Amino acid sequence: MKTLKIAVLKGDGIGPEIVDSALEVLDSLASKYNFQYETKEGLIGGIAIDKTGSPLPEETVKICKESDAVLLGAVGGPKWDDLPTDKKPEKGLLGIRKALDLYANLRPAKVFDALIESSPLKESVVKGTDLMVVRELSSDVYYGEPRGITTLENGERYGFNTMGYKESEIRRVVKKAFEIARQRRKKLTSVDKANVLEVSGLWRDIVNEEHKNYQDVELEHLYVDNCAMQLVNRPYSFDTIVTGNIFGDILSDEAGVIQGSLGMLPSASLGDKYALYEPIHGSAPDIAGKGIANPIATILSVAMMFKYSFKMDDVAKAIEDAVDKALAQGYRTQDIYRGEGIKVNTKEMTKKIIENL
Ligand code: IPM
Ligand code: MN
Repeated sequence: MKTLKIAVLKGDGIGPEIVDSALEVLDSLASKYNFQYETKEGLIGGIAIDKTGSPLPEETVKICKESDAVLLGAVGGPKWDDLPTDKKPEKGLLGIRKALDLYANLRPAKVFDALIESSPLKESVVKGTDLMVVRELSSDVYYGEPRGITTLENGERYGFNTMGYKESEIRRVVKKAFEIARQRRKKLTSVDKANVLEVSGLWRDIVNEEHKNYQDVELEHLYVDNCAMQLVNRPYSFDTIVTGNIFGDILSDEAGVIQGSLGMLPSASLGDKYALYEPIHGSAPDIAGKGIANPIATILSVAMMFKYSFKMDDVAKAIEDAVDKALAQGYRTQDIYRGEGIKVNTKEMTKKIIENL
């Protein structure tokens, strides 16, 4: 039997607590589902800056490249906020995405019936929402050159970035999105700004070309501003959404808040060779070390790891069902507690989920 190799990057703030919870779940799965795994820890983010001077030490990249999948907690915190942009903990995150060529970022947003009252939107609008944002993660204005701040002839400063996509960069993420839509409800919404941007015109052309290979998937195109509006208008009508890096950054936060708490949302970042799984939320420095963080997003990230990296859908489903059950039994961490049910801390929530596995 193959041993699953998992690189573990706990990071900062609540990162260590929630990753420990996910590792406990992993451990109890191993005996039930009869697989073997080994973990290796690496430093990333603020803790890596403190210990090595770099938010992404070489050793961490090496550990990740020698693994089958990477589990990450969160990076950042007020302690490092005043560092220059290219020395900040966040640079570790951008660096590992680039180093592993993780080009497809999957961000599901699913409304849990048990938590429907946590949504800022009306129940009638959010009920049944279950969507997946596929955000391109390796290119676009995030990495485009040239970039910088210069001084114009008249002495005025000018800041600029470059939004650009190579055909191959669009095609690979679009293909992945069609594949994912095919495994879901077979509907893909491609989001761009083709009424203004040339790069979006190319994006749209390639999506239409690839659609020929996925005719069983229904395709719609939306401009990004319209999509932002429709996400709060009719979130239930979306299945899979594919878009570029910057539009996806914004839309996935919007989609994420629909179901109530960011503490519930996992993510996967996939390349052709490597994959990284992490909760969508950040390091929550205000509650770090208190043992009250919601571990569900990280635990569900492990579910995504089993689905996308290890192709063990039964294990993924078991984790998701166990989370659903713990919620249905009324267990709530403080971020999702609305006066009803049983308030629990990180360790207790983890234990309840494990009991339901
Ligand atoms: C995210 C974050 C990052 C991004 C930041 C922290 C660099 O907002 O993962 O969405 O913009 O990609
Ligand atoms: Mn973001």
